[in-house]
Formats: sequence, structure tokens, C-alpha cells
Amino acid sequence: MADITLISGSTLGSAEYVAEHLAEKLEEAGHGSEIQHGPLLEDLKTSGIWLVVSSTHGAGDLPDNLQPFYDAINEQRPDLSGVSYGAIGIGSREYDTFCGAIEKIDRLLTECGATRLGSLLKINILDHDIPEDPAEIWISSWINLLPEV
Ligand SMILES: Cc1cc2nc3c(=O)[nH]c(=O)nc-3n(C[C@H](O)[C@H](O)[C@H](O)COP(=O)(O)O)c2cc1C
Repeated sequence: MADITLISGSTLGSAEYVAEHLAEKLEEAGHGSEIQHGPLLEDLKTSGIWLVVSSTHGAGDLPDNLQPFYDAINEQRPDLSGVSYGAIGIGSREYDTFCGAIEKIDRLLTECGATRLGSLLKINILDHDIPEDPAEIWISSWINLLPEV
């Protein structure tokens, strides 16, 4: 069993709903989960397993509720070598900057020493009316990558 901290960045709730759905799936598989919608860096332990779910707004920008978290990591450059994370973006292919926010987050976490578990999932809302569906398929494989604790 592993303990996963789900971190969501959202404006109108889609990414939050996906995070909540995935928390249920993790619990069903016997893992512990805690959800943080738009946390501050100081709210989180900088070790363990994170699952980041973020939409993109503006032109490839983070949702307002996750921007302070991103800025704090970017400025403070904490040692995140004790963090393993999964990453899911939600966006629309209409934009050139499709899922730009999760790409930025992924890059920054890696630069700070964190290790991504599995592939970066980018959900195109034009293909998926219900973004929980592709996220649920993705997490069934991601669960197999979690360490046995
Ligand atoms: C004003 C606006 C700007 C957007 N910009 C982007 C973008 O740059 N890249 C992208 O992939 N999606 C973009 N989107 C699509 C959103 O990411 C998508 O609607 C997502 O489902 C919103 O999820 P949320 O409710 O969790 O914020 C934009 C949507 C709006 C309304």
C-alpha cells in the first residue's frame, strides 16, 4: 500500500473532479490518498508520491489556484529527490499550447530532482466529454508502478 497526495489545478472544476475520481480508484486498490486542490508548497511534504492533475488556461498557463505552488518551487528550488510523481494534463487541442501547464510542471519537478512514474497523460477534452474515462484507464497501469510499501 502506498500513500498518494493528489494535487489539482483547476479553474472550473474538471481537473478537480478527475483528481477526486482517481483518489477513489486508488482507495479501491487499497492505497491511501489525500487531495489538495491548489495547495501551497508549504502544505505538502516534499517526499513521497504525488499525482498532479492540472488543466491549462490563458495561453499555456497554469490555473490560478496552482500558480503560487509552481512559483514557489521555481523560486525556492527545493530538493524533490524524495518525490515520485504522476502527471495528468487536461486541455483542448484547439490551443497551440495544448496541455502546456502540465508540461511546465513536469519539467520543473524533474529539474528539482523528482522522478516521474509512468507516462505523462494529456487528455484532450475534444476527444473525451468525460475526462475521467481516459484517466481511469491510465491509473490502472500507473498503480502497478507504485512501490510496495
Ligand atoms: C480561456 C481559456 C483558455 C484556455 N487555454 C488553453 C490552453 O492554452 N491549452 C489547453 O490545452 N487548453 C486550454 N483551455 C482548455 C481548458 O484547459 C479545458 O477547458 C479544461 O477542461 C478546463 O479544466 P478546468 O475546469 O479544470 O480548469 C482553455 C480554456 C479556456 C476557457
